[in-house]
Order: sequence, then C-alpha cells, then structure tokens
Amino acid sequence: RILVVDFGSQYTQLVLKRIRELGVYSVSYAWNCNVSKFYELNPHGIILSGGPCSVTQKDNPCIPSVIFKLNIPILGICYGMQIMVAQLGGTVRYSDNQGEFGYARVKIVTENILVNGIYDSTNRDGYRILDVWMSHRDVVTVIPDEFNIVGLTQYNKIAIMAHKKYHWYGVQFHPEVTHTKKGNNILNRFVTDICKCESFWKPSNIIKDIIKTVRAVVGRDRVVLAFSGGIDSCVTALLLKYAIGNNFVCVFVNNGLLCYDEIEKLSSFKKKYQYLNIVCLSEEKRFLSALVGVVDPEEKRKVVGRVFIEIFETYINSDKVKNIKWLVQGTVCSDVIESGISAVYNNSTPNVIKSHHNVGGLPDYLNIKLLEPIKTLFKDEVRKIGLRLGLPQDVVYKHPFPGPGMAVRILGEVKEEYCNILRQADQIFIEELRNRNLYTKINQAFAVFLPISSVGVQGDNRKYKWVIALRAVETIDFMTAKWVNLPYDFLDKVSNRIVNEIQDVSRVVYDISSKPPATIEWE
Ligand code: XMP
Repeated sequence: RILVVDFGSQYTQLVLKRIRELGVYSVSYAWNCNVSKFYELNPHGIILSGGPCSVTQKDNPCIPSVIFKLNIPILGICYGMQIMVAQLGGTVRYSDNQGEFGYARVKIVTENILVNGIYDSTNRDGYRILDVWMSHRDVVTVIPDEFNIVGLTQYNKIAIMAHKKYHWYGVQFHPEVTHTKKGNNILNRFVTDICKCESFWKPSNIIKDIIKTVRAVVGRDRVVLAFSGGIDSCVTALLLKYAIGNNFVCVFVNNGLLCYDEIEKLSSFKKKYQYLNIVCLSEEKRFLSALVGVVDPEEKRKVVGRVFIEIFETYINSDKVKNIKWLVQGTVCSDVIESGISAVYNNSTPNVIKSHHNVGGLPDYLNIKLLEPIKTLFKDEVRKIGLRLGLPQDVVYKHPFPGPGMAVRILGEVKEEYCNILRQADQIFIEELRNRNLYTKINQAFAVFLPISSVGVQGDNRKYKWVIALRAVETIDFMTAKWVNLPYDFLDKVSNRIVNEIQDVSRVVYDISSKPPATIEWE
C-alpha cells in the first residue's frame, strides 16, 4: 500500500492511478486528516502530492510530523518536496518570475537509486538527462542538511533531492503526468524497489474488495441504483448484484436529453440482464420544462441534478418500493476531481471546473444515504472490471455521456426542437465513426448544437439555419485531451450527411481545441 498525502493538487488522483497501474493499492488522505488513519493504513511508502498553496504563505498545509517518524520511504512531488524542504530546515523562495511551467530538462548530478539507469538522453558532457514536466512558481534554494542534490534543471534549479541516509526523496517535477516521459519508471522505482510493494491490485481483487465493502456497509438494507446504462452504472449494478443479491432496484430516468437510440438499447440490455431489476421512468417533459429560460451551464447542471433528485424522492416514497435506505451512484474518480470535491476535503479553496450532478451528496430532507462504490476508480479501471464481469464490448467501450446529457451540448437555452436536431446530427456522426472503425480508437466523440443561424443554399433557395459542431478527443484520463485528426474525406461525408439529412442545419464545423485550455464538453 502507498499512501498519497493530498495537498489539493488536481493531479493527486493521477498519482493514485499511476501507482495502481503498477498493481499496487494506493489511497489518498488529506494532509489534515486524523493521523490515526495513517497508522491504520500501515503504508509501505508515502507520496506527498503537489498543491496550489505556497509554503511561503501563512497557514499553508503542512506534513503531519508523525510521517517522518514512521520509518518508511517518502517521496515529495512539487509542493510535497517544497514543504518537506521547509519543514526539515531548508529554504523555499517565492518568486514571481523564476517558476517553471511545462517542459524542462533535468541533469542528473549525483548517483541515486531513485533515478539510477532512468534517463531519456545524455548531453555533450556525458550527463544523463530526464525530460520532465514542471508546474511551479516557488523554488527550493537551499536543501535541508543531510540531503544531496540529485538533479538540476537547465536553469540550475534544484529538481531532485535525496536524503543521505533515509529513503526520503523530493522531485520538483510531476512524474505522474505523461509528459514526464520516464515518470512511470521513477514511480515504479520508488514503489517497487524502494518501498518493496508487490503487485496485488488487479481487477479480480478489486471486485472482491468492493463486494465485501458494499456488503458490510449496506447489510440487509434495500437499495436503489441511479442507472444510466453507461459503463459506470452497469459495473456498479453487477457489483451490487454480487454483494446484496436481489435487494436492489436500478432506476433509469429518461430526461429527454439522451442520445438517439438510447431507449432501444436500454430495452435490449434490460432483457438480457433481467436480474438487475431495471425500471425506466419517462420524465422528459419535467426536465425540459425545468430548463426553460436557463442558459448558464452550471445552472443547467444544477437544474438537471435537482429534478433528478426530486424524481428519486418521489420514487422512493412511492408504493412501488418499500424501505429504501440507500441511493447508489456509479460516480468515478474523474467526476469527483472535476467537481472540486477533493479540494473541499482539503480545506483549501475548491477550484470547481464543472459540477457533475452525480457528485456532492444528497439533500438532508431525503432521509436516504448515498453510496458510491466505485468512486475511487478511474474509467479504465472500471472498464477492466466491466470486461471481467462479462459486460459486452459495446457497453464497456461506449463513450462517456455526461449526466446532464444534451443540456450541456446545446449552448444556451435547451429546447425540444434543438434536442431533436442535435440527436440526429450526433447519430450520423457516431454511425459514420463506427462505419469507419474509428469509434473505439477515439475516447469521446459527439455533436454540439450552436444556437446561431448561418446562411446556406438549398436548390435555388437561401436557407438560414443552425450550426452543428463536431468534437472528437483522444484522452487517457479525461483530465487532459487532444482533438483527433480525423480524415478530411470522413469529415466531408459526415458534414454532407448532416446538412442534407437535417433540414434545419446549414453548416457543420469541427472543433480543434485541446484540453486544457478548452474542456471536452462545450459547456
Ligand atoms: P470536461 O468537459 O470537463 O469533461 O472536460 C470531462 C469528462 O466529464 C464529462 N462531463 C460530465 N459528466 N456530468 C457528468 O456526469 C457533468 O456535468 C459533466 N460535464 C462533463 C465529459 O463528458 C467528459 O467525459
């Protein structure tokens, strides 16, 4: 086990993911949590995450001193290294202009187990060089006594340090991001060679673990699962089945904001998985009328979230079900990060990117408890578990679809007429991606409705109709994403089909922005 002490970085969960990909269980606790949790976990090593604060500020988050007494290896990353330096007697300076952001080259100046044999190239003087990714403003100017400088950047800034006696290390760069090419090797060296962790974190063990936990938490209570038909809720449903038998019902809400043939797909899934007790509630009108006049994206998310909760409230209080004690949701890790929840846990200012409506607790009046059994898993881990549980490939590799559905793919106010247009455009795009065998090579693709009129010609007539944007991205973790270089002839075909088959569209555009600075969804 590796404990990641979280100082509020948006990459904390990525560190966990990297460690788990090495087959080692890893969990993050906030820096200010009760230290008894550290003892309970009894980790083989500790990673101190990055974070948005500065060690030069007052009341900055700090390392619980007990950590230095546990006699286990420690690796500080970015802020984690700086706070280690500050607490062990070195110096960190705030600098307006000395920070490093993006690519950097680190020269290895001292042999050390953390990086021995790990490098990208050698320079003219024979020094080994690591290509890394940095994101820091403060700089370590003096390392604490008993430490060595192991690596320096091209601007002579301290990039790697190691204690002379203990297994205490610090790296200024981010080994967890893919842009640090040998980042995984460095993490592997720390986890496997230095902390001596073995690789037990595999789908079969994860499944056993979740089943055991759900069984212990839920006991004989009755449960309702918010079921969307996506991979996250399908996996959650199957895990529930194994954990508590038939003591649950899956509720699918048709909010009128779904993709083209979602309801038909659900019907055939329902037939195949009858034992999951899937119930479908048709509530299209309710959502669409609640969205009238709402244009702000966050507001739209809130409205969809609120109506969704109201529908669940009515359902659990109805005669159809009795004694429901838990609402279960298939929330995964990235939903939690993007909603700023981990920052909230840390008492630092939450930097909410988008509030995902399936995250963030339930209103007290609901008198029901919330359970999110796969909250600590990443999408790719959920997919592996889905395969292991025997889910069909088209469910496992289905692109993610946001909870608020087309409400965040229609810019501005949502209208039924816009939903119908968007649904058709999206269906054409996805169908063509499948025809060309591109669907599974892309991580997410969809159409967006732009409520602006644009001039076109049809026969001899001028048409003044709407614009559709197409979006396709490649991403590993949905935290960063690159737009996909789709072939021109493919885009040509999709565009032609959309303007010819949908009367009310006159123009199609392709989105070539990556995340960051854009996000995957347009709203
Ligand atoms: P962004 O647009 O934030 O998307 O780059 C990252 C991933 O999250 C999905 N997404 C959402 N999922 N509720 C959801 O359940 C939401 O409000 C929401 N907003 C974005 C998005 O589709 C992508 O996979």
